[in-house]
Amino acid sequence: MWGAAYMWGAASIRDMQKICRARLFVGTRQTLVLGQLEMGTQPLLPPGLRHVAIIMDGNGRWAQQKGLPRLEGHRKGAHSVREVVRAARRLGLSALTLYAFSEQNWERPLEEVQGLMQLLHDYVIEERTEILENGIRLQAIGNISRLPAYVLAPLSSLIAESAHNQDMVLSLALSYGGQESLADAMKKLAHEVAQRSLDPAQISEEALSARLKTAGLPKVDLMIRTSGEQRTSNFLLWESTHARFYATPVLWPDFGKDDLLMALSAYHSDDPSAAADPDSAKPGSPDV
Ligand code: FPP
Repeated sequence: MWGAAYMWGAASIRDMQKICRARLFVGTRQTLVLGQLEMGTQPLLPPGLRHVAIIMDGNGRWAQQKGLPRLEGHRKGAHSVREVVRAARRLGLSALTLYAFSEQNWERPLEEVQGLMQLLHDYVIEERTEILENGIRLQAIGNISRLPAYVLAPLSSLIAESAHNQDMVLSLALSYGGQESLADAMKKLAHEVAQRSLDPAQISEEALSARLKTAGLPKVDLMIRTSGEQRTSNFLLWESTHARFYATPVLWPDFGKDDLLMALSAYHSDDPSAAADPDSAKPGSPDV
């Protein structure tokens, strides 16, 4: 889709989006989300789309382009997080997983790491009511024991408080690495074998999935990466084996609900049973 927009000589990303919208209006299956939104009716998720994962990239470049400190890019990026979580919930997504802080991010300058931790703390405090009132279950995946106590405490409280919510699971990947989380799951399996509570013959894909922090979530259907990069960067390696990958040139601080809808509209499942699954196309709120 973006390729076509480029070919047509679009002047800017917003121009490209307009062109894409025009194309989406023609009447293919991909018109579902955007077409309905633009006609003012309730947007529907494409059939089979339950779990979206996002690699939020480009905060630094956004700030650099504006001559601002990198932290301003992260600050604006936190606003995008709020908007996208709200839109995902209203659309009726079952699961949204955001790559907020990788294991490698600890190597960034101390000031930037501290700024990101403060933003995370503020997010958990400020979004508490919205998360609880909107049926969102918050969880963290990654090595969160590395987080400073002033972040870990409110994060753990909100995880516990929201544990019974059932409308959407919001997973924040924090101090996260896909290979690291696989190694952790394998350690658990090995430990259980050593304890003789698990027979090696019982080790299977399901057994490993059940020992990941993403256990119980639907498989990732769509992975979005902002800022034009096309790498998966150690994110949800196991869980996104069959995911569609959607790369957009939009930098994360500029990414909003319209960009989310654009990405969702590009999704179509290869699974023929998905189209017949009534749960896979839950109506969302008209004011997404
Ligand atoms: C990548 O941009 C983004 C990050 C490393 C962190 C993402 C954090 C946020 C969106 C804000 C806080 C999060 C929450 C959940 C409130 P980059 O710095 O690598 O950008 P660049 O590639 O342009 O340098």
